Order: sequence, then structure tokens, then C-alpha cells
Amino acid sequence: MATIATRVVEGLGLGHAKLHALSPKHPSPFLGKKLRSQSLSLPSKRAISNLVCAAGGGFFNLVHDVFLGVGVGLPCTVMECGDIIYRSTLPRSNGLTLTVPGAVLALGALSYLWATPGVAPGFFDMFVLAFVERLFRPSFKKEDFVLGKKLGEGAFGVVYRVSLAKKPGAKEGDLVLKKATEYGAVEIWMNERVRRACANSCAYFVYGFLESSAKKGSEYWLLWRYEGESTLTDLMLSKEFPYNVESMILGEVPDMPKGLERENKIIQTIMRQLLFALDSLHSTGIVHRDIKPQNILFSEGSRTFKIIDLGAAADLRVGINYIPKEFLLDPRYAAPEQYIMSTQTPSAPSAPVATALSPVLWQLNLPDRFDIYSAGLIFLQMVSKKYWYVAYCYYFYLFIFGKETQLLNMILGILPRPATSCT
Ligand SMILES: Nc1ncnc2c1ncn2[C@@H]1O[C@H](COP(=O)(O)OP(=O)(O)O)[C@@H](O)[C@H]1O
Ligand SMILES: [Mg+2]
Repeated sequence: MATIATRVVEGLGLGHAKLHALSPKHPSPFLGKKLRSQSLSLPSKRAISNLVCAAGGGFFNLVHDVFLGVGVGLPCTVMECGDIIYRSTLPRSNGLTLTVPGAVLALGALSYLWATPGVAPGFFDMFVLAFVERLFRPSFKKEDFVLGKKLGEGAFGVVYRVSLAKKPGAKEGDLVLKKATEYGAVEIWMNERVRRACANSCAYFVYGFLESSAKKGSEYWLLWRYEGESTLTDLMLSKEFPYNVESMILGEVPDMPKGLERENKIIQTIMRQLLFALDSLHSTGIVHRDIKPQNILFSEGSRTFKIIDLGAAADLRVGINYIPKEFLLDPRYAAPEQYIMSTQTPSAPSAPVATALSPVLWQLNLPDRFDIYSAGLIFLQMVSKKYWYVAYCYYFYLFIFGKETQLLNMILGILPRPATSCT
């Protein structure tokens, strides 16, 4: 290969040299030599031959240069053909050179693209994953379901246990259906995002669609896999708490005497699972805004606690369900500042711009602290549940000093909460 290449290059080099050897003494008319007009009188044969000999080289060179100049080529029988190789005398470049400022700049750009809530994963999710998922997901309609027991009814929807009507192998009631009016679209968006980014943190979302009827108007139908029957509230209300959770998480009762050490371990495990789920949500840019024991469900399949009810959540990577001067919260568990970001923050721009700017806003406001505050309250409730007399003293103190709102909030919750959080 190398030999062939050398020969080709040599050949071309010779061709190139020949072109100029034809008129070594006459510079090209394109380099400033004035063209002299020839006499029009008819010359003799000999004179012509002399003229050709004398001026042949120059004329040939002129014709050649004219054709080259206008970009027209004569046939190779008339003019020299072949490619010209130009070799630069500048020092050769070694390709990509790594310099210290270049490396620092590249690292800075990479860490920005991957900083919470993640610009690069955000674009990948928006333009690739969401698109691919839409192509392959199964779709359902109203007639596909048989309604079962009602599981809950909130301000924004009713939740039922349901089963698939036509699926022969389906277990009875292995799905959960929420019929939602307000915030239904937001909840579908959040659940789809969570399923792509951190499916293990929340109840597994199956499908969501809009159902319109003349009688009820428009309703969003949302479907999840049935995860289990107990929320953290149900478990905390039991006299056995936290030992009732222990057997559910471990599948067996450990050979250890009951006491503070054992209780600590169980509560630590619950908190670890909750914080892990929250961390996954936050790292994808979602702030839940309604973390409370009622929205923490024990999944019997994975033996872990999962988060449900994403209707109040805000996706700060793209700005969905985020309005700077509006808040959505449960006063019993919400952080005292009420807003997840400064109210001076402008409304979200278009999704790609919001995604590109999201790490800056996230670092300035640290909105994940809103959910962490609620998680802290849940922790207090779990650890102080045993010490009910402390709680009653606190209730009594509030009653004496006329702090009815606080008292009502606490009675609606399970146990006392720090006074700072009651506004
Ligand atoms: N995936 C699920 N598996 C089992 N039960 C569920 C599931 N999702 C919701 N539930 C039950 O439905 C109740 C209400 O659900 P939620 O989404 O919190 O609705 P709401 O908006 O009414 O608060 C929960 O407290 C829980 O008991
Ligand atoms: Mg709920």
C-alpha cells in the first residue's frame, strides 16, 4: 500500500514539474506580463515555423493558463492532466491536544450538564425516551375495566381498585384507578416522568387518559399497579407500631427483645426508604409538595415504602405545575415558607430553555428542602408515637394558650409537630 502511494505521488510530482518546464524563462501572463498583439500580415511558412519555435512555449503556456484561469479543461491530449499535490511547510498538527484550561472547561461543562436536576438527562428524556415510550406503551379505554372497592376520595379525585375486564390471566383488582378532574393531566405527566426516571420510588404507573362523557364532563383516568393495602398512616395508627412494620419489611420477626434499639432500627429503615425515594425524585427535578404518611404506601411486592399522589408535584426541570406565586400544600406537613422557590422567580419559559437553566435555579433555591421538612415531621411523629403523654402535655399547653389552629392541625395529624410549622 505504502509503495503504491509513493509511486502515485512521484508520478504526479513529475507531471507538475513538466507543466512549468515548458516555459522556464517566461513568466505567466497572469503574473503581470503585458500581452503583445501580433501583426495581421500573412507570414511565410518558415516565418510561421520560426514564430512557433520562438513563441511556441509562451503561447502554449498562455492558452494553458487561460483555460485553467476560467476553470475549463482541454482534453488531456492537448494539456497536461493530473492532480496537483500541495505540501504545506507548516508544522504538522497532532490532532486533539489536551490543555489544562481546555480540560477544566470540559469538566465544568460536563458537571453543569449533569448537575441536579440534569440538563443532559432532561434532553434525552424529552426527545428520546418520551418519544420511544409513546410508540410502545399499551393503551386502554374506559370499557376495559371493572370497578371494585373504593380506596379513597380526595379533593381532586376518587380512587378504586379495578381489574381488567378482558384479560383472562389478570388477578382480581390488581390495578388501581383514579378518576381525577383538576390536576389529572399534571399527575399523568409526573407519573410518566417518574416511570422513566425512577420507577422504584413511586407506585408503578400503567397508563393515563382523558375520558369525556356528556354526564360527567371530562375526567382523567389514571392507572397504577396495585402495590398493597397499607399506607404509613394505617401502620402508624396500629398499637403495634413500629413492630408491625418490621415483619412486613423483613418478612420475619427478629430474635431480639423489644425496646428502643429495635424500634430505632425499624424507624431508621422506614426513613432510609423514604429518603431514598425522595432523593430519586429530586434528582430528576420533581418536588412532591405533599409528602405525608397518607401518601406513603407499603409495596408488598418489593417490601419497601413507595410514594403516591403526585398531583401537587412540580417538575422544576421543565417548569410543569410550577407557578411562582402559587402554592399547593397540606398545612399539617408543609414547610413554613410554603413556596418551593423564591416568589421572585419568573414563570417557566419554554421547556428546552427551562431545562438548560434549571441547575442554576435549583442551586439558588434548593427546593428539595420542602419535602425534606415534611419527611422530618414524619420522623418526629414516628419516634414520638410511643410517648403519647408528651403529646398530650403539648396539646394541653396549646389549648391553655389559645392556639386553636395549631391544636386543630395537630389533632388532624397523628401527633404534635413543631410550633414553627403551624402557620
Ligand atoms: N398503587 C396503589 N396501590 C394500592 N393502593 C393505592 C395505590 N394508589 C393509591 N392507593 C390507595 O388510594 C388512596 C388514595 O390515593 P391518592 O393517590 O393519595 O389519592 P388522593 O388524591 O385521594 O389523596 C391511598 O391512600 C391508598 O390507600
Ligand atoms: Mg393522597
